[in-house]
Amino acid sequence: MRILAIETSCDETSAAVYDTAEGLLSNVVASQIDIHKKTGGVVPEVASRAHVEQILPVLDEALQKAKTSLKKIDYIAVTHAPGLIGSLLVGVNTAKMVSAVLDKPILPMNHLEGHIYANFIDRNKNFKFPAVVLLVSGGHTSLILMKDHGKYKYLGETLDDAAGEAFDKVARVLELPYPGGPNISAEAERYRRQISNFQFPISNEVVASPQHKELGSGKFFPRSMMDSKDFNFSFSGLKTSVLYKWQDFIKNNSKPSTLNAIPLFCYEFEEAVVDILTTKTIKAAEKYKAKTVSICGGVAANKRLREEIGVRVKNKFKKVSFCVPPIEYCGDNAAMIAACAAYQLKNKKNKKSFNLDFEVMSNKEL
Ligand code: KG4
Ligand code: ZN
Repeated sequence: MRILAIETSCDETSAAVYDTAEGLLSNVVASQIDIHKKTGGVVPEVASRAHVEQILPVLDEALQKAKTSLKKIDYIAVTHAPGLIGSLLVGVNTAKMVSAVLDKPILPMNHLEGHIYANFIDRNKNFKFPAVVLLVSGGHTSLILMKDHGKYKYLGETLDDAAGEAFDKVARVLELPYPGGPNISAEAERYRRQISNFQFPISNEVVASPQHKELGSGKFFPRSMMDSKDFNFSFSGLKTSVLYKWQDFIKNNSKPSTLNAIPLFCYEFEEAVVDILTTKTIKAAEKYKAKTVSICGGVAANKRLREEIGVRVKNKFKKVSFCVPPIEYCGDNAAMIAACAAYQLKNKKNKKSFNLDFEVMSNKEL
């Protein structure tokens, strides 16, 4: 079976072709980063217009790279929720049109489930159930117990900002470009490299400043809710703490010292987020006797998070496997939607349907 998948839920226009016998044949992602950089974030109206421009060339390229044509496609899978309505509509209407004109069955897909199935693009045999999955993206931060394919139970989620959203907002405070996550991570990495070369990057003025003595300890910012008994998260306090400490820092230090301390603040912020996410995930894995710990979603591209969860899983449990998709499949892409559709078809969860009467939705749980 050959599946054509389409994903346009936020600011990436993507199409993929997946063959259930041969695996992934193509995955094309047109990013809108350059457009949204100008406004420091995604403007929904601008995003949907860019999808309209990109969707047909992206679709064409995906078919060409897979050396196939629309006629040879057996199923169309399209993300219909959750996401930005205007963006989702572009992908869904394109998919419905192809389905209607060529008489192909169509599968409406959940974007969050797609992120989880990024783990299965390469048919992951290490992914055993029950699994504890940390789904971390720009719009979601959830801990999920997965008892089997397609069987989910929410263990906890963020009560305010998503982890990716916190990265993006803190980047704005520090005047780093959009998207915040990779840029904060790169600055934090710069700091780590410098200390490993014994080149302490911050000036003597900063080191001597009494209110910032703990900068560089990796424990400068609060770990909100890290020790709460539930599996929920909160990142808005951390974000506000970065804002206040940064304003205070700017007030008390010269411009060169301020510029020079950006990598240090990024490092401290990243350490706090990674510590909170990892601690809660490990606790959930212990409580629910998980055989697999997995992370997925845009923030799962974060190297520090991948490394820390991997190390703590290995140290704490003997037989638990740690699964994380390759970095290119952590952010939004259609390959993950196709892999998810392939599992649903295999498990007959999603029957062959030609019904075009489904909506797009901004919110939808798993
Ligand atoms: O899954 P995704 O592409 O889109 C949503 O479904 O939201 O996630 C995007 C989020 C953004 O907030 C972005 O800043 C964050 O993922 N992100 C990262 C990294 N790469 C992307 N956050 C931390 N470190 C990264 N390396
Ligand atoms: Zn996403």
